[in-house]
Amino acid sequence: MKGVILAGGKGTRMLPLTKVTNKHLLPIYNEPMIYYPIRTLAAAGIKDILIIVGGESIGDFLRLLGSGEDFGVNLTYRCQEGAEGIPVALALAREFADGSKVMVVLGDNVMEESLKEDAVKFEKDSSHGAHLFLKEVHDPQRYGVVELKGDKIVAIHEKPANPPSSLCVTGVYMFDSTVFGVIPALKPSKRGEVEIVDVVTHYLSSGRLSWSMLKGYWTDAGTLESWFEANAIVRENSLKNKK
Ligand code: DAU
Repeated sequence: MKGVILAGGKGTRMLPLTKVTNKHLLPIYNEPMIYYPIRTLAAAGIKDILIIVGGESIGDFLRLLGSGEDFGVNLTYRCQEGAEGIPVALALAREFADGSKVMVVLGDNVMEESLKEDAVKFEKDSSHGAHLFLKEVHDPQRYGVVELKGDKIVAIHEKPANPPSSLCVTGVYMFDSTVFGVIPALKPSKRGEVEIVDVVTHYLSSGRLSWSMLKGYWTDAGTLESWFEANAIVRENSLKNKK
């Protein structure tokens, strides 16, 4: 399986911090944000990783990360000129994936757990075309949220005003290569972006979606508050591990 990190977008919720710097280069405690998704993929046993970067900052990423040798991975870079949505960024990975399954991590997601077991399982599994990692959160209206009947997902809602559960869809997804055929048919949502939940809903509708719960800490660092929280969590864990 290959890895894809989506680090495009404009980072407008973090202005003015993101006026001259890409959000994913901001620090989370003692390291740049982009280190975390790279480590998530490396820990899942994935060696070939494509980073999709917003046009203006690709040089900064190259200077920081180079070939990926420091992480034991091979990095490739590709530019997303606009910020039309997560699936639009993912579509740029089609040639890189070259028919392989992909684990996709949003560049602002920070987590503790190794996803290796799930990655190995999904790689062998031909009955599912997509896999989600869910996490219980206190503010589900900020995320993609699943609606359950028993232990079955029946719908997925993006940033619902009245969340049907407190289980959010984290920014780690696994897809088989059919995903690149699904994306071009999607239309932008009311907020003007093509939505990743619409991609996932395609697999839900055809009964080819699997999911598991994330056990360790997880946060997305895409707003000022959640970035601040991510810094605190990583600091706390790092100090605990030093003891
Ligand atoms: O973090 C989990 C959440 O991420 C999910 O629960 C939501 O379903 C999903 O839509 C997403 O919500 P966000 O509001 O956090 O998405 P955001 O626009 O912040 O984009 C997340 C990352 O995706 C960001 O760090 C960079 C990348 N991205 C985003 C856009 C819009 C791109 O690479 N290109 C883009 O055009």
